[in-house]
Amino acid sequence: MNNASAKIALGCDHAAYQLKEQIKTHLLAKGLEVKDFGTFDETSVDYPDYAFFVGKAVTSGECSRGIVLCGTGIGISIAANKIPGVRAALCHDLFTAEACRQHNNANVLAMGARVLEPELALQILDVWLKTEFEGGRHQRRLDKITGIEDTMAVEHAQELANIVNNVNNTK
Ligand code: RB5
Repeated sequence: MNNASAKIALGCDHAAYQLKEQIKTHLLAKGLEVKDFGTFDETSVDYPDYAFFVGKAVTSGECSRGIVLCGTGIGISIAANKIPGVRAALCHDLFTAEACRQHNNANVLAMGARVLEPELALQILDVWLKTEFEGGRHQRRLDKITGIEDTMAVEHAQELANIVNNVNNTK
């Protein structure tokens, strides 16, 4: 990853606040720019809100990649993957951190603060940051994921049009 162009979006819930702070310090020490969407203390919050902030920052181009954290990493990765264009990978080891970049071009890394020791989380982060997408046959598969997103968007638009038509017909 080219440091000059890199701006990393960060988001977490209360369960991962401490880990988020450690990750932020780590990223800044590496010379990377960080956009911290919170949360900013250990008061209970809802992880989908932070998944949304980070996902939108990445898909809008404001940030090049994102990191989302919650207790297990599961809830916040599920929520982030609802945003078209987000490819969030939940990683608990170095192998999947590397593979999700090489094969899936994962633009969001999810981790669980109640699962990982902070030291391993930082190692996973470093592998994920430095590993490049391999392209080739993997790009074809990512194009199919985009195809699913596009199909669902068209179906949704058709459902909305049907609702509007039904409302107009009952007037
Ligand atoms: C919060 O208690 C917890 O449910 C959340 O951090 C996460 O683990 C959900 O997937």
